[in-house]
Amino acid sequence: MSSPRSFPRDFVFGAATAAYQIEGAAFEDGRTASIWDEFARVPGAVINADNGDVACDHYHRYREDVALMRELGLESYRFSTSWSRVRPDAGAVNPAGIDFYSRLVDELLEAGIMPWLTLYHWDMPQALQERGGWTVRESADLFTEYALSVHDALGDRVTNWATLNEPWCSSFLSHIAGAHAPGHQDAGEGLLAAHHLLLGHGQVVRELRARDESLNLGITLNLTVADPVDPHAEGDRNAARKLDGQFNRWFLDPVFRGVYPADILADIRTEEPLALKRLEAAVHEGDLAVISTPINTLGVNYYQGEFVSGTAPAVPPIELEAPTDRAIRAPWPAPADIHPHERGLARTGQGWEVQPEGLTRVLTRVWEEYAKPTNTVLYVTENGAAYDDEVAIEDGQQRVHDVERTAFLRSHLGAVLDAAEAGVDVRGYFYWSLMDNYEWAWGYRKRFGIVHVDYDTQQRTLKDSAMEYHRIIRNRTLSIPTYTGVPLYLHTH
Ligand code: FCB
Repeated sequence: MSSPRSFPRDFVFGAATAAYQIEGAAFEDGRTASIWDEFARVPGAVINADNGDVACDHYHRYREDVALMRELGLESYRFSTSWSRVRPDAGAVNPAGIDFYSRLVDELLEAGIMPWLTLYHWDMPQALQERGGWTVRESADLFTEYALSVHDALGDRVTNWATLNEPWCSSFLSHIAGAHAPGHQDAGEGLLAAHHLLLGHGQVVRELRARDESLNLGITLNLTVADPVDPHAEGDRNAARKLDGQFNRWFLDPVFRGVYPADILADIRTEEPLALKRLEAAVHEGDLAVISTPINTLGVNYYQGEFVSGTAPAVPPIELEAPTDRAIRAPWPAPADIHPHERGLARTGQGWEVQPEGLTRVLTRVWEEYAKPTNTVLYVTENGAAYDDEVAIEDGQQRVHDVERTAFLRSHLGAVLDAAEAGVDVRGYFYWSLMDNYEWAWGYRKRFGIVHVDYDTQQRTLKDSAMEYHRIIRNRTLSIPTYTGVPLYLHTH
């Protein structure tokens, strides 16, 4: 690219985190276990048996972290509240727990950073899991109660509210594949969990809207592009349809149109008839109307695309989930004939493909088919990459020359600009993640941050990618790359 490209005037630059991944203080001030505290202790479930007991110790260091955000020039910070902190065991409100978020929000506002709050980033109270978790309807009601208590405390200062982060992960990846908490492997459970998560989403949107018309309400979905290996082969097209249907449309269709996709319902009827019966019994009249309550914003999380065929490749593709000791299954309620293939794209340090143009296509497709017809706007609420960073000491200072992450950030911001220039109403971008953190089943092994965290000392170091992001935010342009030459440092730490 030879000339600088500008971002729209109101475009919001941010970074994202989630409660369990950064907070630590897992059993302090009244917080009790969530399903991730429990799952992390299941032998073999998480690499190195890592857990979130301490994580980035953000609970105690949030002031320092907000100061870092301010230095970076972040305009918004996307974080999640922990249900187990706010309402331990899904019971009464814990004043000390909610107070933490109140202080965090004050600190952000003081720094001129707009809070972007997610109510559920996968950490249901373990006590509720023991009553059936997301597979029981009661969870949607208790989630609504919890959401209202967060709003009671923060509604005077927080405008941007997302109900759920990536319900695909907290349903299919967690209850069918078994890769995430609670680690179950049952197609019926996955479908029930997805339904009750979405029901909780719809209920919360209704209640918050009734309380305050002016709120920016939404949900964050992880979305992808599914390309057939051979677009002329029927089996490959079918694999792409099934993947798209069970990753994207299973969540987009109920939220925007009040229906589950008919083709996938038919697939499940063939492959898992009992699971479908359980879903049908769980869907009450009126549920889909609640689920499709209008929202203002769809948060799009995008990491990579999918390249699939109806036939298995000769050489098995790279395994993308964490290589833990527990066997996991395919994350689909209708898994037959979906086979990922290798296509030779560059991969991140976690094996995920680097495919920025996929982000342009995801945004364009979701805008045309779902958001534009319903007056919903888009934000990229997560996008980022893990690489095996190395800390160098130069002139007595710590440096992380994360050239690949810097290129990843730039190419994906370019992809967002491509979509915006094509008429997509995409209003912001949140890099995942502000800092290295607990990457679920990967434990602390995978580093996504633009800020490096030394887990022994809790020292934070801005990586080169953070410096580049700072420059982009300050200039509001994606200029000619500077990171390939001598990195420009903002300051020394
Ligand atoms: C997303 C999650 C986020 C983080 C990134 C890498 O699926 O929402 O918490 O783990 O992946």
